[in-house]
Amino acid sequence: MTTDMLAVTGGTKIFYRGTPDERRALDGLNIALKPADFCIVIGSNGAGKSSFLNAVSGKLPLDSGRIKIDGLDVTKLNAHRRAQFIARVFQDPMIGTAPTMTIGENMLLAELRGKPRGFSYGLTANRRAKYREQLSELNLGLENRLDMPVGLLSGGQRQSLSLVMAVSTRPKLLLLDEHTAALDPRTAKLVMDTTVRAVEELHLTTLMVTHNMDHAIKYGNKIVMMDAGKVLLEIGPEEKRGITVPDLIDRFHTKSDAIALQGS
Ligand SMILES: Nc1ncnc2c1ncn2[C@@H]1O[C@H](COP(=O)(O)OP(=O)(O)O)[C@@H](O)[C@H]1O
Ligand SMILES: [Mg+2]
Repeated sequence: MTTDMLAVTGGTKIFYRGTPDERRALDGLNIALKPADFCIVIGSNGAGKSSFLNAVSGKLPLDSGRIKIDGLDVTKLNAHRRAQFIARVFQDPMIGTAPTMTIGENMLLAELRGKPRGFSYGLTANRRAKYREQLSELNLGLENRLDMPVGLLSGGQRQSLSLVMAVSTRPKLLLLDEHTAALDPRTAKLVMDTTVRAVEELHLTTLMVTHNMDHAIKYGNKIVMMDAGKVLLEIGPEEKRGITVPDLIDRFHTKSDAIALQGS
């Protein structure tokens, strides 16, 4: 049996506990991913999708429950310590990159992320050649602009750069939180194509949150539907092949009706 690349058991996070505003962001969440799983996370607003990714990255410490990455219990490790295993791309293209630094410097920061202090710094000729090659995959011409400040790029170009930076270190986990939602359809397609290519070529274990049902059925090998901080529905690789959006919605309604009946 292969070790799970990610295992969350009983993940619970309650905000404003014991007050009238109590929010159960995560409520006994259980999720396991095999190496190279590409898991699409869907669910309505407030279902806990971002909290789940934040809990995995360490940004949101759990109240209870455990998180293992590739067999290592990281529950008590802070976000900085977990950064050696995890890369993220957020919805807002402005978040993933530093605008006043050049493309090359941003790539260097990504390479050094999670590395011990004292790791060889500097934008050496070797590194520049490597970054140029990684950027050329995007077909945006960024490989010829290593010395340009990132602030001069468009949102789509910045998001593409964030993605290249995220995958350049071959993280154990790639976390994507609606990373194409703020882009125009053409740019979103480009970033999605780059995402799929990187995930498949590098066999990255990936969690991708999306609101886009077409993306949910088109990409990945697994779907997890969250509701009220839990997994409501999990669709594995066999079942996912050939599934349609109406099937998915149907499965969702059947499941929520069953839960409503249990509760009544
Ligand atoms: N920092 C926070 N403080 C208070 N409540 C929060 C915070 N983050 C999330 N929540 C609450 O937790 C629930 C889940 O939120 P979130 O994980 O952002 O959902 P999703 O990403 O699925 O829309 C919501 O009720 C939200 O209001
Ligand atoms: Mg969210």
